[in-house]
Amino acid sequence: MDSHIERILFTAEEVAQRVRELGAEISRDYAGKTPLVVGVLKGAVVFLADLVRVLDIPVEMDFIGAASYRNSTESSREVEVYLCPQVKGRDVLIVEDIVDTGWTLARLRKFLLEQGAASVRVCALLDKPSRRETPVEVEYCGFEIPDCFVVGYGLDYAQRYRNLPFIGVIGKTEE
Ligand code: IMP
Repeated sequence: MDSHIERILFTAEEVAQRVRELGAEISRDYAGKTPLVVGVLKGAVVFLADLVRVLDIPVEMDFIGAASYRNSTESSREVEVYLCPQVKGRDVLIVEDIVDTGWTLARLRKFLLEQGAASVRVCALLDKPSRRETPVEVEYCGFEIPDCFVVGYGLDYAQRYRNLPFIGVIGKTEE
């Protein structure tokens, strides 16, 4: 194991099991519809790839890009959408790796509705509710986790570790 990984939070098998459960729930809820599954770049790519393969309804796939930074008063985050698919009239399911402060998803949900999406729901693999700064609804959540920095299964630290098959807690790095 990489020496920076302090401990494994969820093994690949535990993640796969939870993804199957989420897939069954989403397939039931969207029966008769063809949702547009929109992954938030880049962290959601691995999760999205596994999730769509356990859905037994027709779906389309696309990606959205968002960059966030603290505003000058530090009281909130500005979230800039730099890539957005055509969503007019679509039932959009946003797929996100992790909800932290909530600013990114709050902005994306509002943005997609403004772009004309018929409905918007959120599926996040991980949620850190104790870190929330703004309320955001997460209709489908994989796991709630405590306030720690996690990597793997698409999640990065400085663009690394996305390819780990499990989700681990990262310790101090001295690079
Ligand atoms: P939010 O806008 O604060 O909710 O930020 C969500 C984004 O922060 C996620 O999409 C991740 O890119 C990043 N993030 C938050 N916590 C972690 C973590 O523990 N590991 C890796 N990325 C994280």
